[in-house]
Amino acid sequence: MTSRFIVLGVLLVLSCQPVAHGASEQKEGSPQTLREHYNLQEGKHLYEQYCRFCHGEQGKGKAFDVTPPPADLTSPAVQQKSDFDLTQTIHGGEQGTAMGAWKWVLSDKDKQNVLQYIRSLAR
Ligand code: HEC
Repeated sequence: MTSRFIVLGVLLVLSCQPVAHGASEQKEGSPQTLREHYNLQEGKHLYEQYCRFCHGEQGKGKAFDVTPPPADLTSPAVQQKSDFDLTQTIHGGEQGTAMGAWKWVLSDKDKQNVLQYIRSLAR
């Protein structure tokens, strides 16, 4: 008699288990990737407006004839530098070169976005 109730109970418990499937695969189209996408677009826009003139369309440098020449931003020599170092250069420029300071033009967020774009050019 009682064994019937036990079977019924077990079935009930089993049917109440939450179904766990694919919960962690929902990355694409999430608010975070969307924000990253817009930040990169913003960085590209800033780059084309302010940096392309010297560093060139693809960031390969030497678009403008000065000594020393504009750095190839896609080169390992540049890409190996930390975000901090590169941001410092964009912020304050390189003394004695054509690389000027952008601190009056670009906000911290702008510098971050333009740097992300430079990183993306090397990929
Ligand atoms: C008038 C030309 C000119 C413009 C415009 C310019 N740069 Fe530069 N940039 C240079 C030159 C020249 C150098 C190389 C300096 C050197 O050799 O020390 C340089 C170097 C750099 C470096 C340092 C690379 C390293 O090796 O550390 C970064 C980063 C950089 N530029 C980013 C930018 C960004 C971002 C912009 C736009 C906001 C920009 N530059 C606009 C001329 C320019």
